[in-house]
Amino acid sequence: MTRKIAIFDTTLRDGEQSPGASMNTEEKLVIAQELIRMHVDVIEAGFPISSPGDFKSVQEIGRLAGDDCVVCGLTRAVDKDIDRAAEALKTAKRPRIHTGLGVSPQHLAEKLRITEDECIERAIHCVKYAKQYVDDVEFYAEDAGRADQDFLIRVIQAAVDAGATVVNIPDTTGYNMPDDFGARIKSLSDNVRGIENVTISVHTHNDLGMATALALAGVKNGATQVECTINGLGERAGNTALEEVVMALKMHGDELDGHTDIVTQELTRASHLVSRITGMNVQANKAIVGANAFAHSSGIHQDGVLKARDTYEIINPEDVGAAGSEIILSARSGHAALKHRLAELGYTFAPEEFDDIYQRFLEIADQKKEVYDEDLESMVQERDRDIKAVYTLDALQVSCGDPLVPTATATIMDEAGEKHVVCATGTGPVDAAYKAIDMVVSMHGDLQEFVVKAVTRGIDAIGEVTVRIQSESGKIYTGRGADNDIVVSSAKAYVNAINRMIQTARANEGK
Ligand code: KIV
Ligand code: ZN
Repeated sequence: MTRKIAIFDTTLRDGEQSPGASMNTEEKLVIAQELIRMHVDVIEAGFPISSPGDFKSVQEIGRLAGDDCVVCGLTRAVDKDIDRAAEALKTAKRPRIHTGLGVSPQHLAEKLRITEDECIERAIHCVKYAKQYVDDVEFYAEDAGRADQDFLIRVIQAAVDAGATVVNIPDTTGYNMPDDFGARIKSLSDNVRGIENVTISVHTHNDLGMATALALAGVKNGATQVECTINGLGERAGNTALEEVVMALKMHGDELDGHTDIVTQELTRASHLVSRITGMNVQANKAIVGANAFAHSSGIHQDGVLKARDTYEIINPEDVGAAGSEIILSARSGHAALKHRLAELGYTFAPEEFDDIYQRFLEIADQKKEVYDEDLESMVQERDRDIKAVYTLDALQVSCGDPLVPTATATIMDEAGEKHVVCATGTGPVDAAYKAIDMVVSMHGDLQEFVVKAVTRGIDAIGEVTVRIQSESGKIYTGRGADNDIVVSSAKAYVNAINRMIQTARANEGK
């Protein structure tokens, strides 16, 4: 039997650090639910001291996870951070505090302005301080990839002696070559006393496009936990992609001496979910979860695959949940068929909620011949996003063309249930719709990016619009909207971004 490699998912912490990928607590809970369904071992749910929203997310995810997985909160090596993380993690049955500080010459001299000995003292202190609250303490040696190796051994020895249960060796800047990083992990395994009783974790970034290779080199040399994110989201070029590590371990488990407990059939759905919620589209040629990952276009390849799939495919698409559904859903489908398919996709609803879902399904089915899984996922996630909306787009009518002046009439409901009917003109139908919305909403944002994408198949596809708006404080908010009519999608996306901006402002005011 190979070693169990723990999957530590940091989509909700490092992943959320991708510019524009911020999520509210409800959205994080939807992703956490999917991570639990996928059987990740650890969810890093946030950085509790960084904002009231992060604090609440760690609290709520702790409550949600129960015994299913470890829930972790990040801190700096600072007492008040650790106090705050411990408070947020009180709801968790299996809490972990993740604390640490920079250890490279750059971090010591330029960021922290401390000596090596002071760094070691702080490492010992933060681990011991966190241990007062929880048994499970993970110590991170930030920028270990560029640290002096003898010093790294001393810091890790100090953290282990102070009681760390996990030591995280990040290549924070994605600087290393895989062999060098592997050698660093091996030298820790060989030289730190007691390390055999501690989990070695690797946390690598993708600045040179080698995050997965680095993580696997770590595993080969003694690491038994990998920190990763869905779709490789994360700071700058991102983190190691969870789906890549998991599938590499599945295909090469013997040489790597490792396996994971991940339900690989969930990988595609998790990827779609995270992409939809964060507004970060996945490149079509992305390994494992990209739209083209199992598409064969050249005649020679198609011929080969039709004769035997393994001529050009090393992974069976079904193993990552990429296979299509056999059940054809349409306006003629009843409750049972819809319920069955939604349950297969992992969505279950209370009977009183299901009626609303079925009505939404019929509205889509009325406009389309066939309702695909992507339509259903889009519909359910759209509904999740609507919950607790400050403003909801009730109706939109636009007139445009040549030589008409583009004009939009929008009906918007506010959270008090008041209906606002407004009309505006603009340079085009979307501009007119946005100007009409601006007449009602209490906060405004500058439009920075506008992307339209067909998320389902066919001419009657659902068009999904992602917008990014910038608040007065400079923060970016993503909004998404889906509909068969792309002007309606655009308006929904804009209202969604404004709702997020307002919800974040409220959360930060502690309302
Ligand atoms: O990249 C990094 O070093 C990190 C740490 C905070 C673990 O994200
Ligand atoms: Zn990181």
